[in-house]
Amino acid sequence: MSMLKWFDERYPLTKVWNEHLAHYYAPKNFNFWYFMGSLAMLVLVNQILTGVWLAMMYKPDAGLAFGSVEYIMRDVDWGWLIRYLHSTGASAFFIVIYLHMFRGLLYGSYRKPRELLWIIGVIIYIVMMATAFMGYLLPWGQMSYWGAQVIINLFSAVPVVGEELGVWIRGDYVISDATLNRFFALHFLLPFLLAAIVFVHIVALHKVGSNNPDGVEIKKGPKGNKWSETAPADGIPFHPYYSVKDIAGVAGFLFLFAAAVFFAPEMGGYFLEHPNFEPANPLKTPEHIAPVWYFTPFYAILRAVPSMAGSAFPGVVAMGAAIVLIFFLPWLDRSPVKSIRYKGMLFKVWLGIFVVAFIVLGWLGVQPATPILTILAQVCTFLYFAFFLLMPIYSKMDKTKPVPERVTK
Ligand code: HEM
Repeated sequence: MSMLKWFDERYPLTKVWNEHLAHYYAPKNFNFWYFMGSLAMLVLVNQILTGVWLAMMYKPDAGLAFGSVEYIMRDVDWGWLIRYLHSTGASAFFIVIYLHMFRGLLYGSYRKPRELLWIIGVIIYIVMMATAFMGYLLPWGQMSYWGAQVIINLFSAVPVVGEELGVWIRGDYVISDATLNRFFALHFLLPFLLAAIVFVHIVALHKVGSNNPDGVEIKKGPKGNKWSETAPADGIPFHPYYSVKDIAGVAGFLFLFAAAVFFAPEMGGYFLEHPNFEPANPLKTPEHIAPVWYFTPFYAILRAVPSMAGSAFPGVVAMGAAIVLIFFLPWLDRSPVKSIRYKGMLFKVWLGIFVVAFIVLGWLGVQPATPILTILAQVCTFLYFAFFLLMPIYSKMDKTKPVPERVTK
């Protein structure tokens, strides 16, 4: 006890514990969707730990990289496990984050006063995409090489400065050893930046407090519960209630994650693409070049937009806009209620359309662009944008239900 006192006099240990855990009051009605934040933190830690261990054996050299990954898989003790935890972890990260973001759509978690929390989240999402993209080059397989080639060439489609931009990113005129080296350096750095932004994300969350499945602000409700007279009546201490509940989420997640790592680490070519088991060959283009599943919806949008005067720039703009639009969600949603529970049919139908369009786009992104599939991609791209751009209209027109005064069970 005196040791704790010694620390508390020099560092706000007990104060932080109380303010953010033991006396931090979160809504009492969290459900399945509220597991994803803590799971995302778990997966980030997994990525950093397994990534640092992989880096001890990996060689960021165009002549050695592919072989060093094979060496990790075959010769390093437990190397296969560390690598599969990392490669499966990347997909798990995006699954968890897509569910985390979808929860925001369900319960209007991006609405006032959580706009900044949402914006920080979208920044995290973009940094995650950059990190995963750079990580995918490192095994120096066929898909690593050609995937990076296609995506970096998109930057070259930017008018005027495009060519220069491409060379600046690659550090060369083609993807080369210079590219591999810088991608390795940045792929090592960015997860630590992510951890820092996640900290900021949590600071923003604790300033405004969590939303909940009813979309009711517990801070605006009555005060006083059995732990505190000033706490929101519908809040319960994060610790031990949610620290313990989150462990149940972790256990469920680990079952599924372990099943993937041990029984289906390639996931039929979705988590690790088949051409990537062949070393990069700049002289041989793979038959189909497709990014990993978590990028494919945006890749499908890119391909759906016709090029102009031989330039893919319009597609690049559409792809960028598809991501940038997510930032504006807090201002696009004009519904008087936050949660889907009290929204009307109109919003529910549009949300359904959006989910279907996003999944179909994801599927289209791994298919060859035949004329019929291109039309389907164009329809889904239109629906994707319509969901966001028409939201101010349909969310306002929608017939909402009365919101209860307090959170329900
Ligand atoms: C590394 C990635 C991320 C981590 C570790 C993370 C972590 C968390 C945690 C621990 C919470 C509180 C628990 C929960 O509500 O689930 C939370 C809440 C939230 N996050 Fe994230 N997050 C990440 C990415 C994102 C992204 C990409 C977005 C949106 C684009 C986002 C938006 C939100 C919002 C709006 C809330 C409040 C939700 C509510 O109260 O209903 N987060 N996040």
